[in-house]
Amino acid sequence: AQNAKESLYIVSQFAASFFVKQLWETDEGKGIGLSYFKERGFREDILKKFEVGYSPDVWDAMTQNAINSGHKLEFLEQTGLSIKNDNGKIYDRFRGRVMFPIHNFTGRVIGFGGRTLKTDKNVPKYVNSPESEIYHKSNVLYGLFHAKKAIRDLDNCYLAEGYADVLSVHQAGIENVVASSGTSLTVEQIKLIGRFTQNVTILFDGDAAGIKASLRGLDMILEEGLNVKIVSFPDGHDPDSYMHHVGAGAFKTYIEENRKDFILYKANVLLKEAGTDPIKRAGIIRDIVESIAKIPDQIKASVFIRECSSLLEIEERVLLSELNKIRSAKS
Ligand code: CTP
Ligand code: MN
Ligand code: MN
Ligand code: MN
Ligand code: MN
Repeated sequence: AQNAKESLYIVSQFAASFFVKQLWETDEGKGIGLSYFKERGFREDILKKFEVGYSPDVWDAMTQNAINSGHKLEFLEQTGLSIKNDNGKIYDRFRGRVMFPIHNFTGRVIGFGGRTLKTDKNVPKYVNSPESEIYHKSNVLYGLFHAKKAIRDLDNCYLAEGYADVLSVHQAGIENVVASSGTSLTVEQIKLIGRFTQNVTILFDGDAAGIKASLRGLDMILEEGLNVKIVSFPDGHDPDSYMHHVGAGAFKTYIEENRKDFILYKANVLLKEAGTDPIKRAGIIRDIVESIAKIPDQIKASVFIRECSSLLEIEERVLLSELNKIRSAKS
């Protein structure tokens, strides 16, 4: 089984190198793929660092190239890079897409995300590698291999949603960033961050889905005993679009100045939702205390109760009795 796994790593690395070569050395790759990245504002050093590539828009270019180089179809199929249709015909999973290789945290390629260049709404924006012997997406954080040293050194991990976000935040000079990419954040991903730092800063998209994911994510992070802050982005921007919109310097400043702790963040989001409805506003307090109740460390929890009390102008003992109610309901 160990040998079979090794073979999957090897074909994955082969494919990654193939896609890189296509991007930089072929007319199609340069004309379509590289110019796409350039139009989005990505620098060449960032594209090279993350080993992004291009998959040609033909039926089986990658598969044929791999087989001609002596790789076994069996392993290409097991990684999902090659697919056999009902008639036994083999084709490439990724065609005519820009390619983001996904590395495990030791730096080996284990899967891919491929982004379409088409604006057609019927074409899925991203196609991803399926689960395989080497790729379990709920255990993977995109970008961790390139970020782990900075995460340790800076004792903080920025957590974004997508591939492009990781590249753009790096481009702004912030290297301690990873993405949950596609899956909603998992406990395994949080535990993985916890091996490098106890501090997470969420940088999710500034749309309804991103805000919802932030609220869910912060509770999960608190439950794992890690500290969490949140930076939100205006007008539906995500970290990638916002970085290119304001520029690297202003982006860095924005991140540093708009980091909110989870109580302030939740209060802002929920107060906006509640408007002037007094019943809804009362519900917010309970909702925030519910997040505090997830913190395993009692002393830390009491610090947040105090903060919540001064922020929302509610007596501490009211919040504490709410906290105890929630806790005893849980146990
Ligand atoms: N994703 C996915 N499949 C989709 C849509 C999204 O796997 N059909 C994952 C990708 O990892 C993507 C992330 O979820 O990077 C965030 O999705 P989204 O915000 O929609 O995409 P962006 O990363 O913003 O992509 P881009 O900037 O290239 O449009
Ligand atoms: Mn590599
Ligand atoms: Mn989104
Ligand atoms: Mn996005
Ligand atoms: Mn985006």
